[in-house]
Amino acid sequence: MSKSLYERLGGSEAITNISSDLVDIHMANPRIAARYADSDPVKVKHQVATFFIAGTGGPNDYDGQEMRAAHTGMNIDNDEFVAVLDDALQALEMHNVGQREKEEVLYVLYSMKSDIVYV
Ligand code: HEM
Repeated sequence: MSKSLYERLGGSEAITNISSDLVDIHMANPRIAARYADSDPVKVKHQVATFFIAGTGGPNDYDGQEMRAAHTGMNIDNDEFVAVLDDALQALEMHNVGQREKEEVLYVLYSMKSDIVYV
C-alpha cells in the first residue's frame, strides 16, 4: 500500500515543526498578521499541528472547531486566503518537502476555501 501523506511528510514531529514555522510566518506576514494580534501562538500552533496531522492521515487529536465554524464572522477575503496559502508553501519549502507532497498539501488547503472565505 502507498504511504499516507502524513508518513511522506515525516510524521507528527515533522508536521509539528512545519506548523510552528507556519504560524510564525503568518504572524510576521503584514497581509494577515493583524488577524492573529490577540492569539496565543502556543495554542494556535497546537491547533494547526493537530489539524494538519489528522488531515493528512495521522492520529486524530484535533479538538478545535470545524473550518467553517472556526472562521465564521471573520469576513476573510480572497487575498487573505491566498496569503495563507503562500505562507504554507513557504513553510513546506523551509522543511524541504517534496514537490508532490507540496502539491497535495496546497490542494487540500485550497479545497477548504469555501468554508473560510466570506463565511
Ligand atoms: C485553508 C486555510 C486555513 C486553514 C486550514 C486554517 C486552519 C485553522 C485552524 C485549525 C484554526 C484553529 C481553530 C480552533 O482552534 O478551533 C484556525 C483558527 C484561526 N484562523 Fe484559520 N485556517 C485557514 C485560513 C485562514 C485565513 C485565510 C485566515 C485569515 C487571515 C485565518 C485566520 C484564523 C484566525 C484569526 C484563527 C483564530 C486563532 C486563535 O484561536 O487565536 N485562517 N484556523
